[in-house]
Amino acid sequence: MNDAGSPPRPGAAVTPPGAALPDIGDLYRFASDAGGVYGTEDFCFFLYSVVKMHKPQRVLELGTGTGVSSFWIARALRENGSGTLLTIDDGRQWDKVRQAPGLERYGAQGYASHRDFILAMAERFGVARELSLVTTSLPPYPEFDPGIEVDLLFSDFRHDPATVLALLAHFLPRMSEASSIFIDSASTAFASYLLLERLIEEFNVGRVPKELLTRLPEERAQDLASAVRSRRFTLVHLTEVKDRDQNGTAWIKIAPIDIVPYPRTRMR
Ligand SMILES: C[S@@+](CC[C@H](N)C(=O)[O-])C[C@H]1O[C@@H](n2cnc3c(N)ncnc32)[C@H](O)[C@@H]1O
Repeated sequence: MNDAGSPPRPGAAVTPPGAALPDIGDLYRFASDAGGVYGTEDFCFFLYSVVKMHKPQRVLELGTGTGVSSFWIARALRENGSGTLLTIDDGRQWDKVRQAPGLERYGAQGYASHRDFILAMAERFGVARELSLVTTSLPPYPEFDPGIEVDLLFSDFRHDPATVLALLAHFLPRMSEASSIFIDSASTAFASYLLLERLIEEFNVGRVPKELLTRLPEERAQDLASAVRSRRFTLVHLTEVKDRDQNGTAWIKIAPIDIVPYPRTRMR
């Protein structure tokens, strides 16, 4: 896999360009019916809004799950008129998804695989052109051709400190200069929360802790160090006030060191 912007794979049903956008009410109901399975019933709207506002061209999601977050991201891309989402999942929790009570009305039990279900729902919600799904286990994390950068990364498959370190080491040099990384649940898991607080503090004075550098071959370590030196990082803990575990997402907003806000927009 070389390009987060690659088109849907052969075999996937693809909505023709210009086809009418389905009523958003159907997708809204899907968020209510399926969002509770992994707790993305509200965060999906946040992602939709960020995608509408920042207009990322390449979005990468690690952990497709029910597809709730994927379909809302892809819907925003479709409404924007540009941009693609590559979402990755090995389908290991397909039994949990297909048996979720809210998914009965979408016929989840009738699909042979997670992949079949997600591609069929992408078609139903009118986002088959914007969304491509890769069925594989992580790590390894996807590689990209030189010059290909990710504008928005949503990681929703693991949030332990070792994974947070591995994600940042791999993806920071591949993020575009004005981009966002979201790591689900990292803000409400104490060790990952403290790790992120400390890392971002170091990044903002241009330093990359050795623990990150030693995970990478020499050339990659240099890419990481230079990406960090030229950027400013804002860490926001998007907590959700709900009576359950895993109530929050860490948002690392990345921008070049400059005197204007990013993504660039008109200033007065
Ligand atoms: C929390 S769910 C994703 C929820 C999703 N964002 C949503 O809105 O429904 C995590 C998903 O990651 C997948 N997953 C977990 N570990 C994985 C791994 N090592 N490689 C690939 N997929 C994995 C599971 O199959 C599961 O579907």
